[in-house]
Amino acid sequence: MSDLNAAKSGQFKIGGDLTVNRLGFGAMRVTGYGIWGEPDDHDESIRTLKRLPELGIDFIDTADSYGPDVSERLIKEALYPYDKKVVVATKGGLTRTGPGEWIPVGRPEYLIQQAHKSLRNLGLEQIDLWQLHRIDPKVPAAEQFDAIKSLLDAKLIRHAGLSEVSIADIDAASKYFKVATVQNRYNLIDRTSEDVLDYCEKHTIGFIPWFPLASGELAKEGSLLDTIAKRHEAAPSQIALAWVLKRSPVMLPIPGTSKVKHLEENTAAVNITLSDEEFAALDAEGKKAFAAA
Ligand SMILES: NC(=O)c1ccc[n+]([C@@H]2O[C@H](COP(=O)([O-])OP(=O)(O)OC[C@H]3O[C@@H](n4cnc5c(N)ncnc54)[C@H](OP(=O)(O)O)[C@@H]3O)[C@@H](O)[C@H]2O)c1
Repeated sequence: MSDLNAAKSGQFKIGGDLTVNRLGFGAMRVTGYGIWGEPDDHDESIRTLKRLPELGIDFIDTADSYGPDVSERLIKEALYPYDKKVVVATKGGLTRTGPGEWIPVGRPEYLIQQAHKSLRNLGLEQIDLWQLHRIDPKVPAAEQFDAIKSLLDAKLIRHAGLSEVSIADIDAASKYFKVATVQNRYNLIDRTSEDVLDYCEKHTIGFIPWFPLASGELAKEGSLLDTIAKRHEAAPSQIALAWVLKRSPVMLPIPGTSKVKHLEENTAAVNITLSDEEFAALDAEGKKAFAAA
């Protein structure tokens, strides 16, 4: 195994049958400002995506709305035909009206159309994991879940997941289909979804924390995170990632970047082993920072 290999993060079986290395990649950042349009440096975005398989990263998260379409198309441009082991997970259910604007649309016919579009953009016959980006509050949840069930029944998607949901949402969706993954914002200093994470661990649902690198004030000079980072000769963001990975065996972090250098730095986090004491101390500091925020 080379020094930089995501396999060192351990493995998880999505939906019980799709094995991925736990450290994945978020492909939202390979787009323009405000996650809108083409990236500033197309070639560097392509180099970043092409580096993924070399680093053992076989779980890539994207969405129809990243660009929109840009992220999915760049993934195809860089990696098609895909290695059999690569799992490209996409999402649908958010529309875009401009940079930084995200509007849920959960009408069943729209969700189904978007899954078809993602298949085309990615050059796939079946999407391994399709996630509902947001439950649209303007549309009955049952209709949105039913649309997902129809995508599964038609084998257009192999597994389905949810994003930014509560335990009650997971329970409600589970009446329609098996929830394979949940993607909620989670990091050292944002513990809003602690209960959802525990629920996912109990039910072996993959938990995909977005914005996993955030560590805010905890990373400042002389802080606990900074001290532990220096001890490991690592960057605070790498320690934040190592902490997230140690937090739960169902954790599938997807740090996002548009740069090879940052991708390699993030992947190197799999070589960091935090002691139980370091983990617990960071856990307590993170909870304190979250409570104070
Ligand atoms: N489900 C949802 O609602 C949702 C919402 C947001 C994101 N996501 C998914 O989650 C993924 C991760 O979330 P995220 O991109 O918001 O947060 P993140 O991965 O925690 O942070 C990404 C940011 O950090 C920078 N960065 C990454 N590695 C770095 C490094 N080694 N050194 C310095 N800066 C670094 C990136 O800029 P550079 O490009 O300059 O490296 C980017 O600005 C996304 O790509 C997307 O797939 C999902």
